[in-house]
Amino acid sequence: MRISDTGDLWWKTAVVYCLDVQTFMDWDDDGMGDFVGLTERLDYLADLGVTCLWLMPFQPTADRDDGYDITDYYGVDPRLGSAGDFVELVRTARDRGMRVIADLVVNHTSDRHPWFRSARSSRTSPYRDFYIWRDDEPPDTSADVVFPDKEDSLWEYDDRTRAWYFHRFYRSQPDLNITNPLVRDEILKAMGYWLELGLSGFRVDAVPFVIETTGVDAEELARFHDPHAYLRELRSFVGRRTGDGILLGECNLPHKEQKKFFGGADGDELTMQFDFIAMQNLYLSLARGDARPLVRALEHRPAVDEQSQWATFVRNHDELTLDKLRPPERDEVFAAFGPEPTMQLYGRGLRRRLPPMLDGDPRRLRMVYSLLFSLPGTPVLFYGEEIGMGENLDIDGRLAVRTPMQWTAERNGGFSRARPSRLVRPVTQGAFGPEHVNVTDQRGDRESLHAFVKLLIKRYRESPELGWARFSVVDQPHRHVLAHECTLDDRRLVPVHNLAPTSCTVPVTLDGCDSSHHLVDLLHDDTEFALDDRGRAEVELDGYGYRWLRLMDQDSRRLR
Ligand code: NOJ
Repeated sequence: MRISDTGDLWWKTAVVYCLDVQTFMDWDDDGMGDFVGLTERLDYLADLGVTCLWLMPFQPTADRDDGYDITDYYGVDPRLGSAGDFVELVRTARDRGMRVIADLVVNHTSDRHPWFRSARSSRTSPYRDFYIWRDDEPPDTSADVVFPDKEDSLWEYDDRTRAWYFHRFYRSQPDLNITNPLVRDEILKAMGYWLELGLSGFRVDAVPFVIETTGVDAEELARFHDPHAYLRELRSFVGRRTGDGILLGECNLPHKEQKKFFGGADGDELTMQFDFIAMQNLYLSLARGDARPLVRALEHRPAVDEQSQWATFVRNHDELTLDKLRPPERDEVFAAFGPEPTMQLYGRGLRRRLPPMLDGDPRRLRMVYSLLFSLPGTPVLFYGEEIGMGENLDIDGRLAVRTPMQWTAERNGGFSRARPSRLVRPVTQGAFGPEHVNVTDQRGDRESLHAFVKLLIKRYRESPELGWARFSVVDQPHRHVLAHECTLDDRRLVPVHNLAPTSCTVPVTLDGCDSSHHLVDLLHDDTEFALDDRGRAEVELDGYGYRWLRLMDQDSRRLR
């Protein structure tokens, strides 16, 4: 890797920050965040070190799934601003060194989308075949629904034309019929539109469901025999239109299956995929104070093409899904981090943010974020993680973690000057509420979580080996410690993390090193470890301690 490669394959060392415009910053004080407010906050995000914004859906919506039910692929929800405000945001972000990607929600539309309105109005509608219909009574699909609290079938009966339509998610989100070439063309056209307005790619919602063909008949299937060819088409379209745009796919699948979505050896489908398996095993490791589940998950990650990348994350806007753990493992995580039924969702996840799950323990919290930024891959933050925001369990379902951003200790956390009753969503209360957790206080405090995350981002950006190198574990005797190594050419970094509350000393041996080398801790000033003539060092760690050790030799020209 040449350093200039990090600019070409920018996503491999990016810092992605996910936010919803409606809960980030309300500039016109109507209680709803807006594009103007977000644009005003770009300097904050640039200062934090973010390099890529991921916008949750901002198009006109029926709002039955917080925007993931779009009624117009070419519009901007008027409550958030105009298309002009969107362009101003993208342009200003670019000036501040940030790219913008956005959710691409094309598995389904809203049932209020004009296509579906037409499709359900008559069997001869030109849009009828945009969706998936059946005339006969569907089988029991209750075990396959995604939201079992609200749905018990993948099919909904529609009186008007006396037929059932297919919906993978809520019944208000009819699935588009991907076997229809007209639908596929419409998707490309919508993508082209937003790319032309400056997006650098998309977070692709629910990818496996987008290309699934459940419910279609044999004739329809015949016109879509290679679903992955369509993903290749999307990727090359983004490449053609932008040069370096990306597709960051949501595929919560076992690693082996995820490999196919990268496009196999060619790496010509999704550019990046979230690593749900590592994320779930991270929680198991945290619950047990044992690094092995996480290590196993990382070691079993399939190798991917050089242009492809894993996206790592601790939390996102949905429930913390634990669906890929075995039931007793899931129960361990529930017991450790969400024992109350009200904290759990769908029998498989937790509707909490990380700090309350860790009882606000600052050492443990920092250790987890240090781990996130040092794991191989590209870290993705969910807004407010940098200050340690909590959830509001009084809010329904997954929305508990989507409360307004906390800018100040003032009313509404400085998110809006509207009356609290007019806010899009109530702010978090209690120990994690704005009086205790907010940007303004933390920006003025060099010891804050915000300052720490900023340091992590700076060090991560200065250490491209974290995004580029293969993962390898460094042997050491403690189960509760993860020591790993990222080596690329002459760059070598050894992050060490202690998942237990007790301090320890970690003996590490680095191949090919001797006493002419030493280790510099990038997270703690003035801390160095000498190596002996066989490349051995003794690294002390506090309880929940962490270090990023950069290997230096006498000739090294890397800056501290
Ligand atoms: C996945 C999104 O993350 C989730 O929030 C949404 O409800 C479903 N896809 C349906 O779009």
